[in-house]
Amino acid sequence: MENMCKNYVIAIDGEAGTGKSSLAKNIAKKYKIVYMDTGAMYRCVTLNMIWEEISLDEIYKIERLLENIKIDMENEDGEDKFYLNGIDVTKQIREKQVNDLVSQVSHIPVVRERMVELQRKLAKGKKIVMEGRDIGTNVFPNAKVKIYLTATAQERAKRRYEQNKEKGINIPYEEILNNVIFRDRNDKSSSVAPLKKADDAFELDTTNYTLEEVEKIVVEKIREKVDLDA
Ligand code: DC
Repeated sequence: MENMCKNYVIAIDGEAGTGKSSLAKNIAKKYKIVYMDTGAMYRCVTLNMIWEEISLDEIYKIERLLENIKIDMENEDGEDKFYLNGIDVTKQIREKQVNDLVSQVSHIPVVRERMVELQRKLAKGKKIVMEGRDIGTNVFPNAKVKIYLTATAQERAKRRYEQNKEKGINIPYEEILNNVIFRDRNDKSSSVAPLKKADDAFELDTTNYTLEEVEKIVVEKIREKVDLDA
C-alpha cells in the first residue's frame, strides 16, 4: 500500500438508487473523511432553473445562473443539509419536479463543466468519499479507489420509495420505478458523460445484499488501497 496518509479520493459511482449515498455517508462518518454528494449539486442547479423559470435550451441564461450559483453542504446534527444561494433546499431537491428534470439538466455540457470544476475544487487537499456517476471516469480518473454499484431497477425503486417514506415524501412506487427506468436510459445513452463503469473500478451488484453487507465488502476493497484509520 503506497501513500498511506496522504489525501485521497474514494469514488463511488453507479446507477440511481443503488445505495451509493447511504454507503458513502456511512464510510465518511465512520472513518472521519469528507463526504460529497455530487447528485445533490445537479439537483440544486435544476431547482435553481425551476425557480428562475429557465428552460433546458436557454443556455445563455443557464450560463449566467451558473456564474452566480452558490451550493453549500453542511452536516448539522448528523443530517446533511443543502443550501442553494443560502436557502435550505434539503427537502425540495428530492421532490418530483426536480426528479423529473434533473437527468436532462445534468446532461447540459456547461452545467457538467461547472459542476466538475466545483467538485475538483472542493476535494482539494482532502480525504474524501465522493458519490456520483462520473467521479471515477471523469472528475477523478486517478482516484485512489473506484467503486461501481448496480442493482435491478425494481430493487432500486423499492429502496428509493422506502427512503422517501422515511423522509415524509410521498411518491407512488410505480412512479418511482418509471423515473428510475427513464433516468437509466438517459444517463447511459447520453453523449455527454454517459454513465459507465471505469475500467479499473470494482463493480458490485447490490440487489441481494443489505446495506451492511455492501459496506463490509466495499470497506474491505478500500482497505486494499488506503489506510482508513490513518
Ligand atoms: O444521485 P442522484 O439521483 O441524486 O443524481 C441526480 C441526477 O444527477 C441523476 O440523473 C444523475 C445526475 N448525476 C450526474 O450526472 N453526475 C453525477 N456525478 C451525479 C449525478
